[in-house]
Amino acid sequence: MTGERSSAQPQPPTCLVGRDVLLGDVVSPAPEVTVRVASAADVPALMELEARYYVGNLDPADLADGFLSVLHPAQWFLDTVADGGLHVAEIGGGVVGFIAVTPPPSLVDPRLGPITRVVVELAQVLEFRGTPIARRRWALRGPVLIDRAARGRGVYTAFNELTRAAYRGRYDVGVLFVAADNPRSLHTTTTKLRAEALAEFEVDGRRYHFLAYSFDSRDDESAPT
Ligand SMILES: CC(C)(COP(=O)(O)OP(=O)(O)OC[C@H]1O[C@@H](n2cnc3c(N)ncnc32)[C@H](O)[C@@H]1OP(=O)(O)O)[C@@H](O)C(=O)NCCC(=O)NCCS
Repeated sequence: MTGERSSAQPQPPTCLVGRDVLLGDVVSPAPEVTVRVASAADVPALMELEARYYVGNLDPADLADGFLSVLHPAQWFLDTVADGGLHVAEIGGGVVGFIAVTPPPSLVDPRLGPITRVVVELAQVLEFRGTPIARRRWALRGPVLIDRAARGRGVYTAFNELTRAAYRGRYDVGVLFVAADNPRSLHTTTTKLRAEALAEFEVDGRRYHFLAYSFDSRDDESAPT
């Protein structure tokens, strides 16, 4: 599901954030959380993490805590790293999560998966806050994944704040999908990211919400609640 990649190397800001800076109010006694731009050396760990939380690999009893719907090949991770679109979270030197923000995938890319295809098609026709998404500089946001042991420690909010800061000069609107039976992710995307559900769709018998959000959080102040 790799999209077209721009040849220019983007320069996201350095995103080294310790809990003293951004996560200072975290009450957990967790060691320092660091969020940084991913490198190619992170790819094996990220693929292992993604595979662990892929819907097809999880015990059904664990699906209620959230899951990922797409497994990406190594080349997708490498392309996304090269594009500056991957951030990782570390605790104690180990990778505990990641988030991807990528340019719109091409509909003629044969590697495009069925869910992402529908998302891209919907982005061509839907409006977000009164403007067609396709007329804005839009990005695909996700996957986002935080290892179970690292959840609830402010990593999600750090991911949101850092990716907004890193990419708002490049993108206006972020587009994402969430499985309808992933209530934790629906809750976090709508209440913490302030994404708005704009449509629902079905792929292979599973329902998904299409959501969009603004990279400039100041836009959220005038958004409907
Ligand atoms: C989605 C994810 C990234 C969020 O990160 P996180 O660290 O769990 O997020 P937080 O702890 O900041 O917030 C979790 C929120 O979900 C709420 N929540 C937990 N379980 C829930 C459930 N079953 N239904 C609704 N809300 C739920 C919590 O109460 C909390 O909200 P609050 O702070 O308003 O009380 C993480 O849970 C994850 O990686 N899940 C598995 C993969 C996944 O689903 N990725 C998204 C795919 S679209």
